[in-house]
Amino acid sequence: MSSYVTKKTPGDTSWFVHDRFGMFIHWGLYSLPARHEWVKSYEKIAEEKYEKYFEYFDPDMYDPKDWARQAKAAGMKYAILTTKHHEGFCLFDSKYTDYKATNTKAGRDLVKEFVEAFRSEGIRIGFYYSLIDWHHPEFPIDVIHPRRDDEDAYEQSKNRDIKKYAEYMRNQVEELLTNYGKIDILWFDYSYSQQHPEQKDWMKGKGKDDWESEKLIELVRKLQPHIIINNRTEIDQDLWTPEQYQPIEWLRHNETGELVVWEACQTFSGSWGYHRDETTWKSPEILIGMLINTVSLGGNLLMNVGPTSRGSFDYRAENALKVYADWMKYNSRSIYGCTMAEPEFTAPNGCRLTQSADGKRLYIHLMEYPFKHLVLKGFAGKVDYAQFLHDGSEILFTEEGLDLFGKNQDMLVLNLPPVKPNVVIPVIELFLK
Ligand code: GLC
Repeated sequence: MSSYVTKKTPGDTSWFVHDRFGMFIHWGLYSLPARHEWVKSYEKIAEEKYEKYFEYFDPDMYDPKDWARQAKAAGMKYAILTTKHHEGFCLFDSKYTDYKATNTKAGRDLVKEFVEAFRSEGIRIGFYYSLIDWHHPEFPIDVIHPRRDDEDAYEQSKNRDIKKYAEYMRNQVEELLTNYGKIDILWFDYSYSQQHPEQKDWMKGKGKDDWESEKLIELVRKLQPHIIINNRTEIDQDLWTPEQYQPIEWLRHNETGELVVWEACQTFSGSWGYHRDETTWKSPEILIGMLINTVSLGGNLLMNVGPTSRGSFDYRAENALKVYADWMKYNSRSIYGCTMAEPEFTAPNGCRLTQSADGKRLYIHLMEYPFKHLVLKGFAGKVDYAQFLHDGSEILFTEEGLDLFGKNQDMLVLNLPPVKPNVVIPVIELFLK
């Protein structure tokens, strides 16, 4: 059994740490400008102008069954959809706003179809819900708000009542957790009360007092007690969510030092929402490498797709998903149910290790292909059998008479084919004694 124990949390993370790999989906009106999901804030777009996107939103190609099939093929076991992002537009049918998909050309509840399609592929359902809202009339203008530089921003904002907005959020979260059956994850985004220390008064960032996070979480737990909630309400719950960087160690709680359940969220390119002209798309080696890296440090990976305004996946996103599908088809055994290897096993240069939760199998990921030999120090006497994971072909090894690498050094040497197999990152499966 794995010896790593994580901090106890209110929700049920047992399935989550087994499944390891999920799909994030950022979809909203920002897919029309196709210049980042923050476009309204970045370009300080006025309400009337942003209204155009509401008017022209027409996802005629939306086929969540196709999304779900691609997610499943890629090996993703859960999916988290932006039911509302910072722009305030709701993909679901809410009683509490007119700013929703039902009132666009789409004419229907897009969340409902997403839930049905993904569930029928056996994929668990998560909802992303933005705490920030740049459309709501009671959301006070602040340092990141699109209207922050309007001359009369403060005057306009003065009578806005964040309490009313906090209540609006509770109402909507109640809808989301009541109308769509069992929801596995609620992903709030985000608090920034500590992020703009130079700002004064009304320009300051917002956090748990503004969102009334305690009440919000209480409501969520009442409606779906086992759900996993992330930490971005500014109150610790189940999930720590490093964004757009790869941790180099298993994440720990900043006060108690305990290991925590964590999920890195990443993009195929630099943007979450569909971004037509973004060109920094990640290579297959990096895509697969991120997944391996994450699991080798006890974490999950949430990989994002930003569908186009017509509701389909861009060809670059489809290619990236295909990279995962091709690799996961043969190598998922080193990911599902796996975690950081026990401390007794040290990864050789250019390799990452994962280990099955029952401790019986160790996986060596060859991030850099080592030519003919892989020397495993400290492994002598521990391995019963070795094979490549993708084709189940035996890998011979020796533990004695190793003049090449020095004798009597408690090492085991794997004999590899000198040419790298046709796998982005090959995996060696070791059956331990
Ligand atoms: C953020 C961004 C955002 C994105 C998210 C994903 O904090 O504001 O646009 O949705 O993180 O982690």
